Amino acid sequence: MIVEAKSPSMINEDGPSKEAIAGFYEGLRPFWHPVCEATALTDKPLGRRLLGRQIVLARLEGEILALGDTCRHFQAQLSLGEIVQIGGRAALQCPYHGWSFGAGGQCVRIPQLAAARKIPASANLPAFQAQERHGLIWVCLMPDAKHPIPDFPEYDDPAFRAVRIHEAEPTRTSATRMIMGTLDDTHFPWVHEGILGDRNRPEPPDHRASRAGNELIVQYETEQPASIATAATGDAAQQAPVKVLYTGHVGMPNVIRLVKDMDGKRLVIWLATCAVDFATSQNFWLSVRNYDLDPARDAVYEAMSAHVRAQDKPIIESQRPWLIPPFWTKIEMPMAPGDLPLMEYQKWLEELGISTGV
Ligand code: FES
Ligand SMILES: [Fe+2]
Repeated sequence: MIVEAKSPSMINEDGPSKEAIAGFYEGLRPFWHPVCEATALTDKPLGRRLLGRQIVLARLEGEILALGDTCRHFQAQLSLGEIVQIGGRAALQCPYHGWSFGAGGQCVRIPQLAAARKIPASANLPAFQAQERHGLIWVCLMPDAKHPIPDFPEYDDPAFRAVRIHEAEPTRTSATRMIMGTLDDTHFPWVHEGILGDRNRPEPPDHRASRAGNELIVQYETEQPASIATAATGDAAQQAPVKVLYTGHVGMPNVIRLVKDMDGKRLVIWLATCAVDFATSQNFWLSVRNYDLDPARDAVYEAMSAHVRAQDKPIIESQRPWLIPPFWTKIEMPMAPGDLPLMEYQKWLEELGISTGV
């Protein structure tokens, strides 16, 4: 799509083109997406939206079944159904006429079928890949995922304490803008002044960015005000700024692990975001630390994260166009060297075919 003639104000008004939305979904399809917390998937089916389509999840004997949320028979929503036992095996039963689907989407019961007839293979539903990791359920809509779910070593390490930050409401932005906004550090003095930055010192740090496997690694040193976000104890207001080594690991394209190292103490802010659709992201956050380990302190970390998230939300939701505009459009004006990490992320998105239009 040619956009040279568009002015920035027109772009503010417009939603993305059909081609841009289709390209975004197509580009993200071959990746693992977090769709819900593992604890949310109990003994009932659960409907979720992913990349603009409705899916249903069910736990069947320890295996996770993920299907399009549409019955093979007359297209009722399977997530309105229930999990039943058929021949000693768990299956997902449609609420409308009782057709039931077992492991792999195989149709295991058609109550209306004449006694002599076998269930036709055409009654089966194609199942998506699904797995549980880092306390979340992940789904990939394609048979082969381009990248595995990124590792999260601190989450698996008993020396660390993890706090899940629940966001009841989705964020009205694209998943890629959500990750880019979390990778962005030059906004710290402006949006998080007094917590993560200081407006009197807005100079960007010296970033190093590189690729390692499926991760974009961004590293820099900075100083931040003394607070629980910099592992300071006691009366933080009386203390000098703290030196922080940041290492951001972006698990391309929808996971970010921001590691803050402060003199042996480590705080990790982790985000996996679900692209519900092109303009809606459901965020799954974890705050993980290896200091101040008393569980009674979790609420303080949760409140700090929620406060920072609330500062970011209206800004990220205000960005237009909804989808990160590809470089060729020249809609954005990234400023090197400060915006280097964002440019590297965007460059990789374009290589993966995720950011293709406006
Ligand atoms: S629509 Fe599902 S059983 Fe008829
Ligand atoms: Fe922020």
